[in-house]
Amino acid sequence: MKSFEIKTKIFFGEQALDHLKDIPYRKVLIITDPFVVQSGMIQMITNPMEEAGITYDLFKEVVPDPPIDKISLGVKKMLTYKPEAIVAVGGGSAIDSSKAIREFALQIENYGEVPLIAIPTTSGTGSEVTSFAVVSDRAAERKVPLVSKSLTPEETILDAELVKSVPPAITADTGMDVFTHALEACVSTERNEFATALAEKAIEICGVFLLRAYLDGNDTHARQKMHVASCLAGLAFNSTSLGLNHGMAHQLGAIFHIPHGRANAMLLPHIIEFNSDINKHSKSRPEYLPAVKKYATVAQILGLSSYNKIMTVRSLVNWVQFMLKEMDIPLSISQMGTITQKEYMEKIDDMAEAALLDSCTATNPRKATKEDVIKIYKELWD
Ligand SMILES: [Fe+2]
Repeated sequence: MKSFEIKTKIFFGEQALDHLKDIPYRKVLIITDPFVVQSGMIQMITNPMEEAGITYDLFKEVVPDPPIDKISLGVKKMLTYKPEAIVAVGGGSAIDSSKAIREFALQIENYGEVPLIAIPTTSGTGSEVTSFAVVSDRAAERKVPLVSKSLTPEETILDAELVKSVPPAITADTGMDVFTHALEACVSTERNEFATALAEKAIEICGVFLLRAYLDGNDTHARQKMHVASCLAGLAFNSTSLGLNHGMAHQLGAIFHIPHGRANAMLLPHIIEFNSDINKHSKSRPEYLPAVKKYATVAQILGLSSYNKIMTVRSLVNWVQFMLKEMDIPLSISQMGTITQKEYMEKIDDMAEAALLDSCTATNPRKATKEDVIKIYKELWD
């Protein structure tokens, strides 16, 4: 038996932030990062709350790849302030930090239900609707995934005004993260009709609006569409989990600090090729792997259909490479110019082992061996 659940109530579209005037909580802890405060963006959150007479306190210590020591600072803040609700404002790090802070604080002292309202300021992680959070154990160079239904936010507000100032490079990285979430949800071993419906819509939106949002950050329509696509893809992979692409990208993030979406984007052509095994497909070996059909459907959604399924999957690989080039995302680690070949090659063995143990890898449509993963990491060099 399978089940599909959407726990989070979603407020979206123009003036979605006005919802903050209607929340029934009088004492709120806002969890965010220093940039949101310094840039003045925070006022878009605090102004409607002040209008509604809501008192609040700020925890603005969130940093990228939230380390455990910052989470424990947030736990202390929450248990001292005892808010009726938490409002998380920021990218994946702020929302993941808020999930972890609430979870750990209420395990220490369960003083009542404390709803979490997630307000994303990037269009990428989908964290606003998922039951996952990732925190970092910096000493061990390890990312620790937390998975629990209780982590899922109760509400999210998707307002494109908050993403207008996201620079092009981050729009590109986070947008490709959205695409990777949707694609991995479509081919996951846990795929199902409900998740596929959401993921395919996210893919269609990425195909039309990601480049537009990258080329013109003030294109509010494209921004709002990508904000919705991010959430749709989040709902999809919350049900199906992800795959080898994320399993391998997490290691590139943990060891070489390559931004998450960028690592996913660079790996994507290699993973599509591996999962579909298109390079070994021939007339004498006409059968194809299960992921081929799913990738071909995705290619058709993007308007890329060709005369057979294998050629259609090839066109999907080409489309991803085209997107990377158009958005100035390097196609290989060597192209990045920040990591030497020696330091990269030295870490491949460890990364391959960790990628196979990563919880995302378990739902990949094609089982990978350590040799397979090493081969993909090596191909990614150049
Ligand atoms: Fe991701």
